[in-house]
Amino acid sequence: MTKQIVHSTLNNTKDDQKQESIRLLNQFLSDFLALALMTKQAHWNMRGSNFIAVHEMLDPFNEKLLEWSDTFAERAVQLGGAAYGTPTVVVDKMSFSPYPLDISSTTDHLRALRERYAILANAVREAIDAGKADPDTIDFLTAASEDLDKYLWFIEAHLEA
Ligand SMILES: [Fe+2]
Repeated sequence: MTKQIVHSTLNNTKDDQKQESIRLLNQFLSDFLALALMTKQAHWNMRGSNFIAVHEMLDPFNEKLLEWSDTFAERAVQLGGAAYGTPTVVVDKMSFSPYPLDISSTTDHLRALRERYAILANAVREAIDAGKADPDTIDFLTAASEDLDKYLWFIEAHLEA
């Protein structure tokens, strides 16, 4: 594993938990930032009969993803790590394929978001299940997981109509 600790702290979280937490927090920092931007891309460009409902639904998703990004970044630093949130890092580390630029309908955007929200919701769940992060990081991931599952439900419910 790449060394994650970059500065000293009196925070006495176990070293192996620190290492794994900082790694996970940075992975999810990239994924949450990327998905926040992809959510805005859909918010701006979708067209179709459900436009206003879906357009307005997506802004709170974006805001919450950005809030979680900030929480994850700060937790990584609290544990003695660094937060890596530049565009270059995000594109390199994100777990998604690039968001399609050639789609227009509300349904196509919802499908593109569905795929990506599911990838992230399930990755966060796996990280919780693995149980290798420190308890406070796991608490954050559990709360973020509740949000992601809810957003995936909202997206999927629009697609079932
Ligand atoms: Fe807007």
